[in-house]
Amino acid sequence: MSIHIGDLVPDFEADTTAGPIRFHEWIGDSWAFFFSHPADFTPVCTTEIGRTAQLSAEFASRNVKPIGLSTDYREEHEKWIADVNETQNTHVGFPIVADPEMQIARLYDMIHPGEHVTEAVRTVFIIDPDKKLRLTMTYPMNVGRNFDEILRVIDALQLADSKKIATPADWTPGGKVIIPLSVSDEEAKDIFPKGWDTLRPYLRVTEL
Ligand code: BEZ
Repeated sequence: MSIHIGDLVPDFEADTTAGPIRFHEWIGDSWAFFFSHPADFTPVCTTEIGRTAQLSAEFASRNVKPIGLSTDYREEHEKWIADVNETQNTHVGFPIVADPEMQIARLYDMIHPGEHVTEAVRTVFIIDPDKKLRLTMTYPMNVGRNFDEILRVIDALQLADSKKIATPADWTPGGKVIIPLSVSDEEAKDIFPKGWDTLRPYLRVTEL
């Protein structure tokens, strides 16, 4: 099943390293960063799980709960977490879903048979508190994800929600933003009192 941006993400029950969860209930009023891994005790995954743990304060400050998934058993995850903590000098405090039968991996289209038939590729799902998919990205097995980008897109999504803006290429927090076409010049006067530059009628940029 493929899940598209704007869809309500599928709910599921699973065993995790933090005990059994029902996914939607676990997300609650937070955002979720749900990210899949091919297998436990693998090098790239070890660095990604470690990096997520190191960034726990960054995720928390954005009201985002990280949750991993790997197609192995909880007991394996627990032993692997001890390795992650030691080798990445961190403390993994977020859950990792146990999915040895690949039920959730299949539900979320994480198995890409051209890459591997029994291991999940590296998919990211950014899910909002309404349980809607807001962003997804998929990496192959041999390329670790960029966590600066993961935090950046969360910032961009949350800013777009709160300020009625869009973000340009390579935007980073504090940079100029775009006034979307859905906002008329008349409305923009109220929302963006500092004004804006009109480069083209369809391209208006402003500072917040
Ligand atoms: C890794 O995490 O290093 C990895 C996992 C599966 C295939 C290739 C690399």
